[in-house]
Amino acid sequence: MVRSVQLRVVGDSHYVASGGEDTAYGPRPDSRLPDNAKRFWRRAGLGESDQAVVARHEGKLIGFFRYSVYVTSMIRDGGSVKNNGKALIAGGTWVAPGHRRKGLATRMWKLALRCTKLSRAEVCTATNAGAGFMDSLEHKGYVRRV
Ligand SMILES: CC(C)(COP(=O)(O)OP(=O)(O)OC[C@H]1O[C@@H](n2cnc3c(N)ncnc32)[C@H](O)[C@@H]1OP(=O)(O)O)[C@@H](O)C(=O)NCCC(=O)NCCS
Repeated sequence: MVRSVQLRVVGDSHYVASGGEDTAYGPRPDSRLPDNAKRFWRRAGLGESDQAVVARHEGKLIGFFRYSVYVTSMIRDGGSVKNNGKALIAGGTWVAPGHRRKGLATRMWKLALRCTKLSRAEVCTATNAGAGFMDSLEHKGYVRRV
């Protein structure tokens, strides 16, 4: 586990969550992202997110987990309608190649789940690595997929 890596939760005014300039297909990756992250962003067609966990090592961005919180269902409670549950909707997880398989993506997800007090997530995996990673999170009991 890389303890010298700093994790921070950011909101939608941060370029990792919001992305860069808007296009018809969603936001472009911001120019400040590492090239490898930009390629992943374009290939996976990432959209906007409300929040992100950002990982830095020696000042450099080495990972992110982008997400939003959404209401999964509503119930009628007497005369009013209430939220029946919330879940994270995953908006892209990326770790710089030299930092992979050291538990960083797991740490970012755990922080987001802890901060939002959620345990369910809607995820659409874009790569085999992402699918293996999500299986691992579920297998360890950190998250349930909606
Ligand atoms: C997927 C990704 C975010 C994983 O990040 P990571 O920091 O390496 O993940 P972790 O170290 O927390 O991995 C935890 C577990 O997930 C699983 N996992 C991680 N990468 C995997 C891979 N490439 N193939 C299969 N399983 C994988 C393993 O079970 C791993 O545990 P282990 O290392 O003890 O075997 C990273 O490989 C990445 O950024 N890939 C490019 C972008 C991408 O594909 N994002 C996902 C889009 S859906």
